[in-house]
Amino acid sequence: MNKIIISPSILSADFANLEHDIIRAENAGADWLHIDVMDGHFVPNITIGVPVTASIKKVAHIPLDVHLMIENPEKYVEPFAKAGADILTFHYEAMKSEEDIFKIISYIKSFGIKAGMSIKPKTPAKNCFKFLNELDMLLVMTVEPGFGGQKFMADCAEKIKLIREKNSEIIIQVDGGINEETSKICKSFGANSLVAGNYIYKSDDINYAVKSLK
Ligand code: DX5
Ligand code: ZN
Repeated sequence: MNKIIISPSILSADFANLEHDIIRAENAGADWLHIDVMDGHFVPNITIGVPVTASIKKVAHIPLDVHLMIENPEKYVEPFAKAGADILTFHYEAMKSEEDIFKIISYIKSFGIKAGMSIKPKTPAKNCFKFLNELDMLLVMTVEPGFGGQKFMADCAEKIKLIREKNSEIIIQVDGGINEETSKICKSFGANSLVAGNYIYKSDDINYAVKSLK
């Protein structure tokens, strides 16, 4: 497997000092910046939206990896693409039909950015198989989406193996409870992009934290 893409989740950063925390992650060797967008409907929490993403774009030097945990994601593809998303990930569970999934994937790509789809812990891996050839990235959640700092669900990580068997090219990202130990499990199953919030931002040594995941 090629390079491991590390994407620190700024959900665990200091929102009053976001620029500072973004630069700290970049200097530590982060490859992407993970932005968790929550709407209070698809998940119980409300976090970051379009204007904050656009402001982040002005100070960041690495790609913005935007994780939409929202209902009706198709309505927000254009605003987030224009705000500077480089990878835009919607949730499988937020979509009404397979046809709509194929549509949103092409729509995201029409902005010249990467299209990702995420599956929640209870969604079986097989539900996403038919979309793998169209997607740039598949995000396997290893916690119930909504909050940072939750415990890694090891049984969810097993799904990575099944997806990797079906497609050797796609980026497989994993998100939720990732640290030095759990990252090893995910990489051994074939994940090549790791999101980490608490492990990176609550660490005393951000340089070590980022490097330990690679
Ligand atoms: C959870 C978010 C994650 C979260 C990860 O719903 O999608 O990106 O920030 O945080 P940690 O790494 O602390 O589990
Ligand atoms: Zn996320």
